[in-house]
Amino acid sequence: MKKNRIEDLALFGGKPAFDQTLHVGRPNIGDRGRLLARFNDMLDRDWLTNNGPFVHDFERRIEQLLGVKHCVAMCNGTVALEIAARALNLTGEVIVPSFTFISTAHCLQWQEITPVFCDVDPETYTIDPGRIESLITPRTSGIIGVHLWGNTCRVDDIEAIAEKHGLKLLFDASHSFGCSHRGRMVGSFGCAETFSFHATKFINTFEGGAVVTNDDELAEKMRLMKNFGFAGMDRVIYIGTNGKMSEIAAAMGITSLEDMEGFIACNRNNYHGYRRRLEGWPGLKLMAYDEREKNNYQYVVLEIDPEQAGLSRDDLLTVLHAEGVRARRYFYPGCHKMEPYRSYFPHAGLLLPVTERLADRVLCLPTGTQVADRDIDLICDLIHFITGQADAILPFVRSERIAQ
Ligand SMILES: Cc1ncc(COP(=O)(O)O)c(C=O)c1O
Repeated sequence: MKKNRIEDLALFGGKPAFDQTLHVGRPNIGDRGRLLARFNDMLDRDWLTNNGPFVHDFERRIEQLLGVKHCVAMCNGTVALEIAARALNLTGEVIVPSFTFISTAHCLQWQEITPVFCDVDPETYTIDPGRIESLITPRTSGIIGVHLWGNTCRVDDIEAIAEKHGLKLLFDASHSFGCSHRGRMVGSFGCAETFSFHATKFINTFEGGAVVTNDDELAEKMRLMKNFGFAGMDRVIYIGTNGKMSEIAAAMGITSLEDMEGFIACNRNNYHGYRRRLEGWPGLKLMAYDEREKNNYQYVVLEIDPEQAGLSRDDLLTVLHAEGVRARRYFYPGCHKMEPYRSYFPHAGLLLPVTERLADRVLCLPTGTQVADRDIDLICDLIHFITGQADAILPFVRSERIAQ
């Protein structure tokens, strides 16, 4: 229901706009019939894990879709990053953005490699190539770029820096499955790229991930590493871990891939719905997708300029949450402000002004197959109303946040 008076807002005692909370990243479930048929096949085969036929099929489909030689499926995106970093022999220091999910930093620190945080470009939200070189030291072994929210990194510039300094280049493409960069699918840039197929991602395997690469040797090493180093029955030839994807996960992944175009069409429709309603509204900027490229439109990212909008991102979020709109502060407060990095590098923020500004200003809005056009209209009506009434709403919102 559209709100016309401040008393109608849930925070002021009104009925929440949504009875059922709307979330960012509710799972896309593809064709349930085909999914259940695959589960039955799997049970009939008695083959639940250990590089089964579904995992094999899932990997080959991804290679074909992305035009890349090797896809190595993993149990999740974090392990994919850890294994890729290890297989690339990353050591010492690796340059990464702080404006990302914590896994991008943790995959390094987990193996005692120091993440060195680099600021991001204010337009694309991805690592700023102009700031990378000043962070290189004799201990630097690599760079991890993150194609954040489907925005691809400035790949050419980063590749040139990596080549000039002899550094390994890995991309965390967790958000960018199905996206392209200069007409080429994400997946074959750098030494390798990683994906997450977590349930919140638009292509999901419940939990899952993958590393893709054109490097035969690297792929072989990662296949060994994800399977304890086993090269055959009773024959371990390498240090390894358990990074395997299960058959049930791959069955979900294959079904998800079959419905990928439908998911993208739905995300695109949602994104443009938000765009039509929010574009030009004072103080609000919706992240743009480069329409010349393939995009998955998986994230609807809103940046709030508190001076122009009359209230901050956190103020808006407090009111939206009360209405049942669970928008999220991705990626607040930035990796450098989380432990252990916060204690290790207490002054890192001095070199990360764009990251800190964005971390305070952006939020992700609900989208995906479970969000309808009318939900988007209602969310946009709410955002218009809240920002239009900011002066009257603010004192109450702030006291409410202190009380929480
Ligand atoms: C940018 C980024 N990197 C890595 C990951 C880790 O993926 P997973 O949750 O599959 O371990 C995520 C997950 O959300 C992510 O957003």
